Amino acid sequence: MCGIIGYVGKAEAVPILLEGLKRLEYRGYDSAGVATLEEGLVSVRKEVGRIDDLRRSIALNPIGGSTGISHTRWATHGKVTRENAHPHLDRSGKLALVHNGVIENYAELRTQLEEEGHLFVSQTDTEALAQLVGRAFDRSTERNQGALVSAVREALTHVKGTYGIAVVHAELPGLIIGARRGSPLVLGIGKGEHFLASDVSAIVGHTRDVVYLNDYEIAAITGEGFVLSTIDGAGAGYNVTTVDMSHEDVDKGEYPHYMLKEIHEQVRSVTDALRGRLSHEEATAKLGGLNMSNGDLRSIERIVLSGCGTAFHAAMVGEYLIESLAQIPTECEYASEFRYRNLPMTKDTLVFVLSQSGETADTLAALRESQRKGHRTLGICNNVASTIARESDGGVYMHAGPEIGVAATKSFTSQVTVLTLIALLLGRIRNLSSSAGSRIISELEELPAKIDRVLKLEVEIAAIARRYAQSKVMLFMGRQYNYPVALEGALKLKEISYIAAMGYPSAELKHGVIALVNPETPSVVIAPNDAVFAKNLSNIEEVKARGGPVIAIGTEGKGNELSLICDDVILIPEASEILTPILASIVLQFFAYYIAVELGCDVDKPRNLAKSVTVE
Ligand code: G6P
Repeated sequence: MCGIIGYVGKAEAVPILLEGLKRLEYRGYDSAGVATLEEGLVSVRKEVGRIDDLRRSIALNPIGGSTGISHTRWATHGKVTRENAHPHLDRSGKLALVHNGVIENYAELRTQLEEEGHLFVSQTDTEALAQLVGRAFDRSTERNQGALVSAVREALTHVKGTYGIAVVHAELPGLIIGARRGSPLVLGIGKGEHFLASDVSAIVGHTRDVVYLNDYEIAAITGEGFVLSTIDGAGAGYNVTTVDMSHEDVDKGEYPHYMLKEIHEQVRSVTDALRGRLSHEEATAKLGGLNMSNGDLRSIERIVLSGCGTAFHAAMVGEYLIESLAQIPTECEYASEFRYRNLPMTKDTLVFVLSQSGETADTLAALRESQRKGHRTLGICNNVASTIARESDGGVYMHAGPEIGVAATKSFTSQVTVLTLIALLLGRIRNLSSSAGSRIISELEELPAKIDRVLKLEVEIAAIARRYAQSKVMLFMGRQYNYPVALEGALKLKEISYIAAMGYPSAELKHGVIALVNPETPSVVIAPNDAVFAKNLSNIEEVKARGGPVIAIGTEGKGNELSLICDDVILIPEASEILTPILASIVLQFFAYYIAVELGCDVDKPRNLAKSVTVE
C-alpha cells in the first residue's frame, strides 16, 4: 500500500532508491517516482507502471544527488497517471513530498489552499499536504533544519487521516524529514548515511540497525545523524533494533516468483512456527508471548478472531479448532466490520487480531477498538516490529520469514499452525485430555515432513492446473475445517489469475450454487479422509450428475473412491483432520499459481492489489 524510501549520505541516491523501491514494489506498483536534490534544485522523475519503467525513464534522462526520496504507488485518490504519481511538489517547486496513507480532509484543505492561490496539478490527497508544508516553510524567516521540521509539524496539525511521509527541500540539501501516523516508517542507521523506509526490506542491504518510528513522531535525518521529536514538539526517545533479516531472505533466489519460493518455504516456516512451543511433558503448547497465566486463560468465556483476506480465512479455521479442542465459543469478524458493529462482547471475551504484515489498517483499527472497549487483545503477526505487534497486549509470532508475493501463502499455513497451538493450549487447561494433547503434539511434529510430501506433488498439480486454466468460473468446496480452505483456494485463484472463483461449504451447493454447475465450470472439492468424507462424496456425485468436472483433493489410501467419480484427484498424506487445512491449502496454492502462470499473469503483482493495505 504505497512504499517509501529516502536516502541521505554521500553516495548517489538514485541507484539506492530504485533498488529499495524494487523491494517495496509489493506494496503498490501502479506508478513510481523519485526526487533528488542537486545544485539547489529538486529534480523529479515519475513514471506510470513498474519500477523498471521508472528506471528506464531515468536512464534516458538521468538525475543525480546524494539526498533523495522515492515512492511506489497504490492509487487511492486519483487515477493512475504520471501527475498523480509521487513525489508531489509545493507551489515553489522546491519542496517535494512522498506519502503513504490517506489525508481524509484533503478536499477541504485543497479548497482552502486554492482560495489562497495555490495551483494543484494532481487529483491526489497528497498534493494538499505538500502545499501545506511548503506554505508553512515559506512563511518562516529561517532556512534550516528546525524550520523545515516546524513546517512539517505545523502542516500535520491540519491533517486528518494517516500518513508516513518523507520531505526534502531544495534549499536544505543533505536533509530529509519523515513523520508517521498510522502508516509504517522505519529509520535506517548507516555509516555517514541514513535511510527512511516503509519497510526494512528496502534497506537491509545497507544496514540492519533501525529505529521504528511511533505514531506522531518526526525524524530529521542527515548523513551524520538524526533527531527524533513528536508532532507536538517534545523530544522523543528511541530504541535501535538490529533486524534479523538479510538480503537473501528478501530475494527470489532460484525461483521465478516470490509466490513459488514462499510456497516452497512452508516446511521451514511451519517448523519455525512450532519451534520451542511443544511440551511433551505437559502435552500442551507453550506460548509465553500471550502474557496470560493459565488462570487468566481459564476465565475466558468467548473468543473473537479478526483479520482481513487470507488472515480472515485462517481465523475461520481457528474458530473450528478452538471450539473443537477447547469448547470456547469463538467467532470470526472481518476486521473492517468489527469496528463498526455493535458486537456483543462480555467482559471475559479475548480478542485475537491476525495479520501477516501487522500493518493492515482495518486490522489495526479493530485492535484499537477492541482495546478501547477494555478487551485484552492479542496479535498473531509475522512482521515482528509491526504496529499491530507493538500495540497488542501480547500474542504469538508466526516466524514465517518475509512474505513478499502479494498472494499470501506461507503466512496462511503459519497462522493456522499458531491457531492450532492456541487451541491446544486452551483445550489443555479445560477438558482436553493429556492423551489427546500428546496425540496432537505428535501430529504437529510430523507435519513438516507431510508438507514436504505435498510440495513433491508440484509437477502433478501443475499439469492438472494447466488443463483447467481456460475456465471462466471455478467453484471450490469443502466442509468443516476445509470450508475456510475452499474460501482461501478461491481467493488465491481470483487474486492471481482473475478467474471468477467462489468458495462454499460443500453441502450448500444444492441450495443455489448448483445452478452454476455445467461442463465448463470445474469444481475443486477438498475431501480428505475425515469425519465428513462420505458426505463430500455425495456432494461430488451431485456435481458429476450435472456434468460438472471435479478435481478432488483427497487422502492417500482413499484415492480409489475419489478416482471412480472425479476427473482428477490429488492426494495429500494421511493426517488428523485438524491438520488437513494446512496440507490442502498448499495444493490449492500450487493450483492457483500454475493456472496464473499458464495465463501469463503477473503472479507476484496481481492487478489492483497490494500486499499490505494501510488504508481503510
Ligand atoms: C491484503 C492482501 C491479502 C492479505 C490481506 C491481509 O488484502 O492482498 O493477501 O491477506 O491484505 O493482510 P495482513 O498483512 O493483515 O495479513
